[in-house]
Amino acid sequence: MQLYDNPASPFCRKVRVVLIETGQIDAVEVLPAAGTALDPGQMPLAENPLGKIPVLTRPEGPALHDSRVICRYLDARAGGGLYPESRLWEVLTLEATADGIMDAAVLMVYETRCRPEAERSAPWVEGQWDRVTRALDAIEARWISQLAGPLTMGQIALGCALGYLDFRHGACDWRQGRESLAAWEAGIARRPAMEQTAPGG
Ligand code: BEZ
Repeated sequence: MQLYDNPASPFCRKVRVVLIETGQIDAVEVLPAAGTALDPGQMPLAENPLGKIPVLTRPEGPALHDSRVICRYLDARAGGGLYPESRLWEVLTLEATADGIMDAAVLMVYETRCRPEAERSAPWVEGQWDRVTRALDAIEARWISQLAGPLTMGQIALGCALGYLDFRHGACDWRQGRESLAAWEAGIARRPAMEQTAPGG
């Protein structure tokens, strides 16, 4: 299998964490890719016409995207147990919430990276950060119990989302007022799979 990957992308990190946690990292060749909507660069357009990564090619069928599909496929392939049947909908909703945090946080970065200063919208950027803070507050208030117990895909996604906030939005200090979430993040960040995939680039 081949994984089109970018070391700064929290979505790609999810896949690399799953590969390590499920013992499949040696089954993939990691291919670097980068690009934007303005310039798809080395994005694998033949495999994903949306021009987004991660993308996973596999010998037995068409390439897979996006990160949710790839992670579910890899878990099924290895019998990883990251989607426990008894908590499936909660796990998927936590993953979707974490992915939404990543989406908003990445859009904030792209607003400055891709738009000339005169075209940037401060209210739009603030609106993205409002999405992040509302989601983090909801997790702190109502989801902490979901973060206990054996590792799930929701926990991996949330760990990657929080790692990305530290990586690109460290000055915003997401830990402020969210002691339970901060304590949980300190624990998951010490897992070898998280340490080995810390964002870079
Ligand atoms: C980043 O540089 O923050 C980034 C790169 C690729 C995908 C998402 C984010």
